[in-house]
Amino acid sequence: MGAMTETATTGTPELFDGEFWNDPYPAYAALRDAAPVRRIDIPGGPAWIVTRYDDVRAAFTDPRLAKDWRWTLPPEQRADAPATPMMILMDPPDHTRLRKLVSRPFTARRMAELRPRVEEIAADLLADLPADGTVDLMAHYAFLLPVRVICELLGVPAEDRDEFSAWSATMVDDAPQDAKTAASQKMSAYLGELAGRKAAHPGDDLLSALVAVSEDDGDRLSGEELVAMGVLLLIAGHETTVNLIGNALLGLLTHPDQLELLRNDPDLGKGAVEEFLRWDSPVGNAPVRFTTEDVEIAGTTIPGGSVVMLGLGAANRDPARFPHADRLDVTRDASGHVAFGHGLHFCLGAQLARIEGDVALRALLDRYPSLTLAADPDDLVYRHSTLIRGLRELPVTLGGV
Ligand code: HEM
Repeated sequence: MGAMTETATTGTPELFDGEFWNDPYPAYAALRDAAPVRRIDIPGGPAWIVTRYDDVRAAFTDPRLAKDWRWTLPPEQRADAPATPMMILMDPPDHTRLRKLVSRPFTARRMAELRPRVEEIAADLLADLPADGTVDLMAHYAFLLPVRVICELLGVPAEDRDEFSAWSATMVDDAPQDAKTAASQKMSAYLGELAGRKAAHPGDDLLSALVAVSEDDGDRLSGEELVAMGVLLLIAGHETTVNLIGNALLGLLTHPDQLELLRNDPDLGKGAVEEFLRWDSPVGNAPVRFTTEDVEIAGTTIPGGSVVMLGLGAANRDPARFPHADRLDVTRDASGHVAFGHGLHFCLGAQLARIEGDVALRALLDRYPSLTLAADPDDLVYRHSTLIRGLRELPVTLGGV
């Protein structure tokens, strides 16, 4: 899709600019071939990006790639700098402790039990879509389904959902830093207050369960950690699965043969979700790591204290791991993809996301057999985020029931 802008010095493509947003994959391919570990500039400052599958997977389990931002500071300043209480930004042993605590209420059984409820929510949303004309499936379906699920799961009242969604989007998009900080403070304040209400009147929800964990006598979650966990789960629930659903739908609408296969064989659903996660990964690049010392990857030395991005979208299209990696093939075995990360921080919500993706696609395809894209794919606009890969809008014609 169009020409890539190239840097004068390296001949490798510019990332996070211009044509990149619509189709990052040619740029990723060029990096895998010519500069698999490359220094780049991102909104927060300089960083390194790793793009080959084997390197990305190995980096996920390399303890020299840490999550604690204080590794970017000179050693004498580290002890005085504040640690963050959010699990996804922590290393062992603190991460281990929090992960164990949150895994307790976040069980596989609890997630699987949610499937019928996810189906109901999908059916309700579909029933609310206008019968004719063009509909934006991002706003009216792909986004609302995971938001409703995560808010219900956590126990956030329905009337507060819209405000949450706005804060969450500001925190993840490339918005000005002061807007991000303000949104994060508002979300934390709200969650702190909601946790107080759950402590007084516990419900059958995840936040109440986390409050109970925070009140246990043994290992416990501090109030600050509890709020940070709530923020993390809400952001993860708002910003990720929406793009699994959106990217998958666009993939199907632009690949009618794949759509046909999926329609004719419902058993392909689960495998297809893995393929969509691989082929157009909703989290394009994992949240950053920091080198605790000089680290050599693929012949390039990343200096200690550097910011490192692990390219999930790039790794998942690596032809050295997935034959014909650029081809969408809902019948392929896509297992081993790194769309949910790998190692200690492997996505806690992976099972829920898979259920949501499977239900969302199945419900829509069953109800609207003649669904079509109502735009030229080249005109679609993607979000500008170094983290998230997803559409701003997906206009379709539903084509009647
Ligand atoms: C398609 C949807 C999703 C994708 C692609 C996705 C992707 C990821 C990735 C790549 C990571 C690893 C981050 C890292 O190593 O730095 C991660 C971690 C995490 N995800 Fe997801 N996620 C999805 C849905 C969800 C949902 C629905 C939830 C919650 C309900 C969730 C909760 C989390 C949490 C809590 C972590 C941090 C785990 C830790 O630090 O130990 N995710 N996710």
